[in-house]
Amino acid sequence: MSQVHSPNAMQAPVAILGFGNQGAAHALNLRDAGVPVIVGARPGRGAHARAQALGFDVFTLAEAVARARVVALLLPDEVAPAVWQQVGAGLAADAAVIFAHGFNLLYGALVFPKGADVVLVSPTGPGRVLRSEYEAGRGLPAYLAVHQDGTGRAWDRANAYAAALGCARARLWPTTVREETEVDLFGEQAVLCGGMNALVTAAFETLTEAGFSPEIAYLECIHQLKYLADLLHEKGVSGMRSGISGTACYGDVTRGPRVIGEDSRAQMRAMLAEIRSGDFAREWGAEAASGRPRLDAALKASAAHPLELARRKALGMVEPPVGA
Ligand SMILES: NC(=O)c1ccc[n+]([C@@H]2O[C@H](COP(=O)([O-])OP(=O)(O)OC[C@H]3O[C@@H](n4cnc5c(N)ncnc54)[C@H](OP(=O)(O)O)[C@@H]3O)[C@@H](O)[C@H]2O)c1
Repeated sequence: MSQVHSPNAMQAPVAILGFGNQGAAHALNLRDAGVPVIVGARPGRGAHARAQALGFDVFTLAEAVARARVVALLLPDEVAPAVWQQVGAGLAADAAVIFAHGFNLLYGALVFPKGADVVLVSPTGPGRVLRSEYEAGRGLPAYLAVHQDGTGRAWDRANAYAAALGCARARLWPTTVREETEVDLFGEQAVLCGGMNALVTAAFETLTEAGFSPEIAYLECIHQLKYLADLLHEKGVSGMRSGISGTACYGDVTRGPRVIGEDSRAQMRAMLAEIRSGDFAREWGAEAASGRPRLDAALKASAAHPLELARRKALGMVEPPVGA
């Protein structure tokens, strides 16, 4: 890969489409790095007002695309294809299009001018961490990949964008769109979101079904997770084990593999196969196109789960009943 270029080498302006988790952090970091930034957002919606309040020039998405030489498409994955169909025609022939996740590059049918560069610059964390690391003078590592090299400078442009985000202060990992997309989906399904939420919910239910206090169950199985996750983040699995008691450690190595046994591993392999075949993307595309009935029903049920009340009580957000 070419050397990381100075952010100032990047031709301006950069249009950030979508001012949400990633979009706001990208816009703020790029601006602080001296890159002229404009924002594309829907008039009358929250993102439009938030970007304006932070001092950005905000245009419709189509206007922003037409004005920019670099366009970062930071919209929700499920809406990006329809939006791009409406605004993509205005893209300059030799523009660069930046994605923060490869989902629509791997599974979508987005059309780009043949001379354009289409690259992946995927920070390895949420937008608020991308921003706070930048403000602290550090950076989040990022995955970089090239989907289409129309100008012959796609890697350079990906590097320049990542450097302006602050990611080159940490590390830039060259990868492929396929690897980033498949590993990212698997990680969030098996561990970071799906696995973690299913694990803590099952543990909470096991304790409360056995008659334990919901608040104590919440504090033990959910609230404390952060402290151990921080230890894991800082020291890795072996290092984390050196920071817990012998009793906790013995329970960890003898009981953990019973929680995640052969059945769970078989499910992980099946989930990975669904991702790699495109079945998961097709399923999610159909769900999004039909108005997200399954997702919204699950979110409603989760908001009404007893662990939510236990959380509010455990953290002192609900007054205990008089006399309790
Ligand atoms: N979230 C993360 O931590 C994370 C991490 C790595 C990569 N990524 C990737 O980053 C990309 C952006 O994800 P995100 O989580 O930042 O998205 P998000 O927070 O859901 O934000 C999306 C923005 O898009 C706007 N938007 C929604 N629907 C729209 C539509 N139909 N037309 C125009 N604008 C619309 C919203 O603004 P209004 O509704 O106010 O108009 C919002 O500001 C995705 O590819 C995602 O996979 C995300």
